[in-house]
Amino acid sequence: MCGIIGRVGDGNAIETLLTGLENLEYRGYDSAGVAVQNGSGIAVQKRSGKVEELKETIADRSLDGAVGIGHTRWSTHGPPTDENAHPHTDGTQDVAVVHNGIIENYAELKARLAKRGYEFTSDTDTEVIPHLIQYYLDEGYENETAFRRAIDELEGSYAVTAMCSGEHVLYAARQGSPLVVGMEDGEYFLASDVPAFLEYTETVVYLEDGDVVIVDEEGVEFTDLEGNPIARESETVDWDPEQAGKGEFDHFMLKEIHEQPTALAQAIEGRIDPENGRIALSDFDPGTFEGIEAVQLVACGTSYHAALYGSLFLNQAGVRSTALLANEYSVAAPPIDENTLVIAVTQSGETADTLNALRRANREGANTVTVSNVVGSTAAREADDALFIRAGPEIGVAATKTFSSQAVMLTLLGDRIARDVRGESAADLESLLPELASIPDRVERVLETSTADRIAQRYEDSESYFFIGRGLGFPVALEGALKFKEITYEHAEGFASGELKHGPLALVTPKTPVFAIFTGDEDEKTLKNAEEAQTRGAPVVAVCPDDHRAADVADEHLWIPNTEPDLAGLLANVQLQLVSYHAADLLDRPIDKPRNLAKSVTVE
Ligand code: F6R
Repeated sequence: MCGIIGRVGDGNAIETLLTGLENLEYRGYDSAGVAVQNGSGIAVQKRSGKVEELKETIADRSLDGAVGIGHTRWSTHGPPTDENAHPHTDGTQDVAVVHNGIIENYAELKARLAKRGYEFTSDTDTEVIPHLIQYYLDEGYENETAFRRAIDELEGSYAVTAMCSGEHVLYAARQGSPLVVGMEDGEYFLASDVPAFLEYTETVVYLEDGDVVIVDEEGVEFTDLEGNPIARESETVDWDPEQAGKGEFDHFMLKEIHEQPTALAQAIEGRIDPENGRIALSDFDPGTFEGIEAVQLVACGTSYHAALYGSLFLNQAGVRSTALLANEYSVAAPPIDENTLVIAVTQSGETADTLNALRRANREGANTVTVSNVVGSTAAREADDALFIRAGPEIGVAATKTFSSQAVMLTLLGDRIARDVRGESAADLESLLPELASIPDRVERVLETSTADRIAQRYEDSESYFFIGRGLGFPVALEGALKFKEITYEHAEGFASGELKHGPLALVTPKTPVFAIFTGDEDEKTLKNAEEAQTRGAPVVAVCPDDHRAADVADEHLWIPNTEPDLAGLLANVQLQLVSYHAADLLDRPIDKPRNLAKSVTVE
């Protein structure tokens, strides 16, 4: 968790650092801080709260310096106080450090350093790093060596950027937490993620575990921990700054919901060939998955719902498949062997629970693939193969477009797996192909015609919100409820339609609207389940095509176009995203940054 940024260049770094931190707030927003070389030493400003509050604090004081670092925090060690905000410094303020990750041996290091007289002022694990660097400086080592020696002592995960008083240099290291370098003529950046500096450069280098970089006005030196030079390729990211901003929308979430037609078009671009009636997933050669006997999909939260979608699709295609919560995987995973394929579904590619599951699968000899949005993410590096969903940056904490793209990519991947495992005729996708090709247009039509704002208003005063679906509608029901609760703070639950009568029906009242998803698979049964709730007073909102019987029976109706059952759920999900969005907006919730949550959950 946490977002870090560093900048070396001419002029004042403050503006760049603060903008970068704002663009990284999706990684955490418990506190924020910056440190710059101001000519006479290191000047630090930090406080609890959002970057906006830090900006107000800084506006009253002059803070000037061409080289600096910044941090936005999601608390792991110690509450979100001013003292625990980064950057952290040593006692003399000769060294300042920002860190994302967890230092597992911090207690032992802290005890050792405290014994030698180094005074700690925060509860964080991070504070051991500046003190450790200072310790080596006190031992007579020069700055770079002191940094390397300190890094060598750290156990756990970290992306660290440090600076030492009196020089225009940044030192950075990566182990298990993301860190990317941005390069423009005479200006260099270090950050947890590309949007931090996208306004200034598109040329990036993703660092790998074990990398140490030294950045000064002359450029960037890529080395290993011992200082040996290493080669790292630069890449050009094709995200423009406007794409990473809110554009015409009030919230990133709404913008990202509306980006789904583009995201889906990008996802399937060049990967399906409807004219020849085939999926052309060039990412994997035919035969890649031959010999696979079982597929396990591991993921958390919204990605888990996409994984469940993918798993149900695979089962329908005759491939043994299970979706598992990544955080349960170490205690309750089915057996794994070399004939198992484990698919880690993670938009960020940095979710600690999912990485742990992936690492376990790697250790036990399974074949591994990650389905991710972030090229250069840890999951993408550690899995045997990666399939990128190409959804573009998602800033809203609540995942929207990445869910849709993940689900569609899992359908394409599922087709490849089914053909490899069961023979070319296994996955009969003939009817699905034209539907897949037109899914961006269909999502567009849903967005253009949605009446979700009116539905949200009508049921604003409810006590609980239920979502039901069957087959591929079930993961969508779970996702509809998760989205609703995370951004409205209202109680919401998703159920398999048939489960309602096995207990949850006891909760149903006129104050519990039931959103029923109709995909075309056994809809009569789902309608019966919805009517069972309706008979007991609950208003029913049917998400279905206009000519569907449910549209007449229900109290309200949200329209989706007629399509294949395998894809109808994705269209229904767009309507449910909009219902959640408008409900949260009516309640004036901080939609892009719901309380207690963060975009990228890099702790277990
Ligand atoms: C909910 C949400 C989270 C994430 C989960 C996994 O809207 O975004 O539930 O889906 O934390 O994140 P990734 O996909 O990055 O592994």
